[in-house]
Amino acid sequence: STTRRFEFSVEWKNVTRLCYTRPILTVNGQYPGPTIIVHEGDNVEVKVTNRVAINTTIHWHGIRQYRTGWADGPAYITQCPIGTGKSYTYKFTVVDQRGTLWWHAHLSWQRATVNGAFIIYPRMPYQFSAPIQDEIPIMFGEWWNLDVMAIEKYMMLTGDGPNSSDAYTINGLPGPLYSCSLKDTFIQTVEHGKTYLLRIINAALNDELFFAVANHTFTVVEIDAVYTKPFTTKAIMIAPGQTTNVLLTANQKPDHSGMFVMAARPYLTSVFPFDNSTTIGFLKYIKTTKTETIQPPLPPYTLPDNLPPMHDTVFATKFANKLRSLGSADYPCNVPKTVDKKVFTAISLNLQDCPANETCKGFRNKRFLASMNNQSFIRPSTSILECHYKNLTSANLFSNFPEKPPFPFNYTGVDPVAENMNTKFGSKLLVVPFGTKLEIVLQDTNFLNPENHPIHVHGHNFFVVGRGFGNYNPLKDPLHYNLVDPPERNTVAVPMGGWAAIRINADNPGVWFVHCHLEEHTTWGLAMGFIVEGGKHPSQCLVPPPDDLPPC
Ligand code: C2O
Repeated sequence: STTRRFEFSVEWKNVTRLCYTRPILTVNGQYPGPTIIVHEGDNVEVKVTNRVAINTTIHWHGIRQYRTGWADGPAYITQCPIGTGKSYTYKFTVVDQRGTLWWHAHLSWQRATVNGAFIIYPRMPYQFSAPIQDEIPIMFGEWWNLDVMAIEKYMMLTGDGPNSSDAYTINGLPGPLYSCSLKDTFIQTVEHGKTYLLRIINAALNDELFFAVANHTFTVVEIDAVYTKPFTTKAIMIAPGQTTNVLLTANQKPDHSGMFVMAARPYLTSVFPFDNSTTIGFLKYIKTTKTETIQPPLPPYTLPDNLPPMHDTVFATKFANKLRSLGSADYPCNVPKTVDKKVFTAISLNLQDCPANETCKGFRNKRFLASMNNQSFIRPSTSILECHYKNLTSANLFSNFPEKPPFPFNYTGVDPVAENMNTKFGSKLLVVPFGTKLEIVLQDTNFLNPENHPIHVHGHNFFVVGRGFGNYNPLKDPLHYNLVDPPERNTVAVPMGGWAAIRINADNPGVWFVHCHLEEHTTWGLAMGFIVEGGKHPSQCLVPPPDDLPPC
């Protein structure tokens, strides 16, 4: 097999957007960062060198890291951070995965600007319904005029929520609906009659997004690097952490400008005045594919009719329900039909009383925090994986995550108990033996929450066997699980005021982070983790730690 080597230099770079110039953290000075392109089965080695005065780590979002948890990247979970002037080479093999994933920094809010696409070409060529003329990466992000790390610090200091970003971006470009941004507009050329594969990644920190192209439909063919049964849709909903591949056929009659607007805006159910701005770019029909400088059209701009409005839960729900695994002979759906262990987790935003002699700026002058089963996750100052592997006594501190909420209540009703659920700070993890077929029911709670929680599991894909609104019913809801072709993915948007049931084949030894991919929620502690113990055979155990693993 082939080994592909990459060099990442983490460095500051001055970037101007919205007429603000500020140094942003980048890889190799690029924003968005470099695209990694590999083939299924390749060995990958990425040497990351830290050339800044702060610590960093890189995570390969969605890569299974089978037996190589040391290369997963979340700071203080699987490794200590890479210090100033130091290097660490992430080594892993891309086993049985193909499609679009991405990579990002996994410490503080660094992933706002430290991110890029990770593309895996399949071993067996895949037949789409039409030949693909070209591939178009579409990476959504958020731009802040202020330093993002300062925003995180402000949250920690005051207990307040973060400011909204100043712009959403497509491939790092805000587009002309934001001030000073006409020249920073994404324009993609296409030829009439041709079909394109859009590799769409939501790298935004805090928002789920709707995305549509005026007059065009998408055919969804893959999510989180797993093929799906194709279906046609006017738009997509994509949560932070998720990736979606769609086919787009350039089959429209363009007007004289040859331009169609593409647009992304948040999906939020909140009545609060959160950011409802929109990033737009253009699809430009041209006669032959050649590079020419194309100017974006001047205003006014009309948003696509097919772009769902901000509160469109009906569309978001229907879209999620259409996602199905392929479940073909070549790409079977390995959903566990039975389970060995069931865990129920209430995921929630909470308030904490303001400590005496502090001023808190959160809701009701308290501090925001977030929890899973009443534990608000605290990152330790050592690597949990290292403690677990070396069997250090502190490893005990990380076990015994509660398998059901210590204080059950009506999760989706109006319940005053919700504000104070005796949340404890901690770093406890669920421990399961190798090979466990695990079911986790993720139950949202109503208090304070205006949006879905995109829950991401490291080191494993999972199957979304059920989802619904209201309180999960352990007697009735399992009767309606899809155990035939449920979507397989690494990040699931747990419906606001509802639940999602996921099933995992816990076949990857190590310590794995599970968290909300809304960065503000992770900051507040909306995370848990699990340990998959080693199996009976060496091939079921973690490889030894690499020599250059950063020390704490
Ligand atoms: Cu995309 Cu824990 O991360």
